[in-house]
Amino acid sequence: MTAHWEAEADLVVVGSGVAGLTAALDAAELGLRVVVVTKDAADAGSTRYAQGGVAVVLGDVPGDSVEAHVADTLVAGAGLSDLTAVTEILTDGPAAVARLRARGATFDPGADGRLARTREGGHSAFRVVHAGGDATGAEVERALVAAATDRRLPLLAGHVAVDALRDERGTVSGLAVLDDAGRPGMLRAPAVLLASGGYGQLYASTTNPATATGDGLALALRAGATVADLEFVQFHPTVLYTGPAVGRRPLVTEAVRGEGAVLLDRAGRRFMTDLHPLADLAPRDVVAAAITRTLAATGADCVHLDATAIPDFARRFPTVHAACRAAGIDPVREPIPVTPAAHYACGGVVTDLHGRTSVPGLYAAGEVARTGLHGANRLASNSLLEGLVVGARAARAVAADRAAVRPAPGECLVASPAAPLAPRAVVQQAMTAAAGIGRDAAGLAAASDRIEEATAVGVPADRAGVEDAALTVLAQAVLAAAGTRTESRGCHVRTDFPDRDDQWQRASLVLTLDADGRPVVQAGTAVAA
Ligand code: SIN
Repeated sequence: MTAHWEAEADLVVVGSGVAGLTAALDAAELGLRVVVVTKDAADAGSTRYAQGGVAVVLGDVPGDSVEAHVADTLVAGAGLSDLTAVTEILTDGPAAVARLRARGATFDPGADGRLARTREGGHSAFRVVHAGGDATGAEVERALVAAATDRRLPLLAGHVAVDALRDERGTVSGLAVLDDAGRPGMLRAPAVLLASGGYGQLYASTTNPATATGDGLALALRAGATVADLEFVQFHPTVLYTGPAVGRRPLVTEAVRGEGAVLLDRAGRRFMTDLHPLADLAPRDVVAAAITRTLAATGADCVHLDATAIPDFARRFPTVHAACRAAGIDPVREPIPVTPAAHYACGGVVTDLHGRTSVPGLYAAGEVARTGLHGANRLASNSLLEGLVVGARAARAVAADRAAVRPAPGECLVASPAAPLAPRAVVQQAMTAAAGIGRDAAGLAAASDRIEEATAVGVPADRAGVEDAALTVLAQAVLAAAGTRTESRGCHVRTDFPDRDDQWQRASLVLTLDADGRPVVQAGTAVAA
């Protein structure tokens, strides 16, 4: 493909959420020439929809400690988190939050002058700081976009990342993009950082915005990177249920349960109390699976979240309140109808704790990456923190690697532009039917066959085509990983293998692409690059 334009930078950041903008700002402060590429508006990604907050131990909550946060994260991660990753990332949390506040983000104050804290599923302490009540992600995104604007950071909006450019040794030498009209452009740079978010759009119902189509993950696979833990797609237990619908559904933050709301079945009975010592505040995978079982047992379309005892609900949870009111529900007076929906990719591109992937010059941070923090099930509100910490570390890694990682001069190679492409609706239907909470071998195989039958090889010509190609390869990768893991663990729930199996303890499934561009599972422990 002939580029309509070319530009040069030291670092190209793909994505303008918390990880991408943190990395871009830090890299610019380190003196690097940075360009941020985003396929939509700067604030259109998942960050701005995060509600609950940032889980961080700032040292001012009696009885809480980084060790307790580490322990909660490991329990939630169900035996698959990496202790070093968990410890390092959580330990770096306070400094990362301080930098974010210095960049202008404002968190809600408590009555005593300290920051207010809330609690979410799986946390043993009130340690989640929040902004605008339940609008934490919006405040984080606002502050970072403002800081980027103040710094005049070059932001290429409306451009989708297509492929990493590489030299003849495979070292990254830039990024090929398409603009909204499908015109190609080329950014030459010795470092590309993927901070492009997750792939909630694989499913019909998700908390994720339309941008969450896994483009960065697919790009990394095509560049030769390894990915891992893709079977662990986290379903948020509570999105507002307003009838069957496709696309982003309004989140009802776990902090609502943290402040005392309880889940009720169609008969008005609490069903979490007998299931877990933390009851309605059990880790998210436990609550989402319990809701799914309750729906199957009762034949209901939704369960209910009774938040009527929470004082001043509209002030504490303005986003949830507004979404409920828009749907004709008054959460102050009546329980909120809720169901689970696809929410977060616990796996991703395998990186070390500085964002380095297995491909020289290619970095990843945030939801697109798999650092080992989340394991089989991410602990609530650990993701904004991970984006802040690893985004900053990746900027330093890019600066440090500059002398060592240099693409050879000359031709930039792009993987073959042709890719397997299936219609999005087919992918979403197949994944929703077979790869949600409760999977089995027959269903996973049937979904893979259904997508395969609908797949044709084509050259993505625009943003929609790039997204469809990403969703197609990711669907097959998730199905392959989910079919291979013959146990239930964290947010991977197999109805034909309902128990945890210790032989899978600490064993991440690693995937790469074969010569035909098909994802292949390689058993073994994922190792950082
Ligand atoms: C929530 O507020 O419930 C979501 C927070 C998260 O996914 O970390």
